Formats: sequence, C-alpha cells, structure tokens
Amino acid sequence: MIEARNIRKSFDGAEILKGVDISVDKGDVVAVLGPSGSGKTTLLRCLNFLERADAGTLSFDGVEYDLATAKKGEIAAVRRKTAFVFQNYNLFLNKTVLDNVTLGLTVARKIPKDEAVERAKTALERVGLGDKLGAYPFTLSGGQQQRAAIARGLAQNPEIIYFDEPTSALDPELIGEVLSVMRDLASEGMTMIVVTHEMEFARSVSKKVVFMENGVVVESGPSKEFFENPKEERSRKFVNFILSER
Ligand SMILES: Nc1ncnc2c1ncn2[C@@H]1O[C@H](COP(=O)(O)OP(=O)(O)O)[C@@H](O)[C@H]1O
Ligand SMILES: [Mg+2]
Repeated sequence: MIEARNIRKSFDGAEILKGVDISVDKGDVVAVLGPSGSGKTTLLRCLNFLERADAGTLSFDGVEYDLATAKKGEIAAVRRKTAFVFQNYNLFLNKTVLDNVTLGLTVARKIPKDEAVERAKTALERVGLGDKLGAYPFTLSGGQQQRAAIARGLAQNPEIIYFDEPTSALDPELIGEVLSVMRDLASEGMTMIVVTHEMEFARSVSKKVVFMENGVVVESGPSKEFFENPKEERSRKFVNFILSER
C-alpha cells in the first residue's frame, strides 16, 4: 500500500533522515522504534507532507509521489487517505469533542454537516466516548483526549493512520485505554504506522518493526524476529534497555 524510498531531510545543515525506506502493506501495523532524536517524528511528518522532505519517493496505492516536489493537489490526494495522531492530541480546546471530530470533515473535506456529525458520533462511539460528545477537552483526561483525537482520525475513513508516540504524554494509568483502542483498530484490520516506546504493544500488536537510530534504519523486519532474535547488536541493546526500564 505504501512504499517510501530514500527519504532525506536536513534541518539547519544537520541531516536528520539519511535515506530512510519504509513499506507498509494493507492491514499491517508497523512499529517505528528508536531512541529519542533518531528521526521518527520527522519520518512520519515527511510521509504526510507535514514536513517537506529534501528527497524521497512515496508510492501510495500504486501512485508515485515525489516527497520533495509534490504539488498541492498531490499532497491533498495523499492526505485524503491518511490520518495523523499526535503526541499532544492537537484538539481545539474551545470546541466540544463532537465539534473537534466534525470540523475535520466539514472544513477540510467539505462533507455536509449532517453526514459529518453522524460519522463523528460513530467514530466517538468506537473509541468509547459516545457519552462525551458535548464535553470540552479540558474536562477530559489525557486518555480521553487522545481517544477523541483518534476518533477525529477515524471519522475521515483513512486507509492508514500515523501515530506519533500517542501515549507518551499520558500518565501511566491512562496509557492502557489508548493502547486498547489501538489494539481494537489493529484487530479490525486498520493499517497503521505507530511510533512508540511501548515495547509490549509493539511486540504483541505490530507485524513489522522499523528500528531507527541517527536518521537511518538500523534494522527492519517481522516483529517476532526483531524481539526474539534481533540481527543487529544495536537493536538488541535497545530492546533490552527498554524492557529493563519497565
Ligand atoms: N523543525 C525542526 N527544526 C530543527 N530541528 C528539528 C526539527 N524537527 C526535528 N528536528 C531535529 O531532528 C532530530 C530528530 O527529531 P525527531 O524526528 O523529532 O526525532 P524522534 O521523533 O525520533 O525523537 C532532533 O535532533 C531534532 O532536534
Ligand atoms: Mg518524536
């Protein structure tokens, strides 16, 4: 479904992505792992044109895009198929949960209000927030806010959802409810790329792992192999370190 090749990106002369490849099949959950600063967020952002890559190609459902030079219309075409879940939810704090989810549909996608509201309600029910439609984000826990942000993505009927450390801003006791929603999505066949430090989630839910460090992919392959028998010394150290932290 997605095949990205040779993504490069520099900030202020420092090369942050040094030719990264990533591919995702329909229905796959791909976990992107790696220490802080390795370029994981930049990778996701480049895939969705939130950041403009210096080089790289993206094949999406067989259509080729140049990540460095794609035009507005091409960017819109890619974004119609994707949703992005941020670490800090990015909800409008002065809008209700229902409005937050509806707005993405009426404003960005020009979907009629009635239909947008129906889709938003369905998505909010799916993440367990059917009773919070009129609530404002500041009255919700971080876990509820992140679930609302996931609903906002789901309501767009994306082909793939990009998650950038969706639980790392949460208090430990709230992480589980968000991971549980993501687990459900995965089992329903949603295609996802998940940047995460939740090793147990990555191990039990993801099909493939991409392990990055310093802007390069150190190792990628089936999750089972990565966790049970990592090929690279560096991957082994990372997995052991993260596991020992818990
Ligand atoms: N907009 C930006 N401007 C300058 N430097 C950036 C920007 N975004 C990211 N970086 C730098 O790129 C490096 C990788 O960042 P990031 O992709 O956020 O890594 P990760 O998500 O793996 O922690 C970091 O050193 C960060 O400071
Ligand atoms: Mg990051």
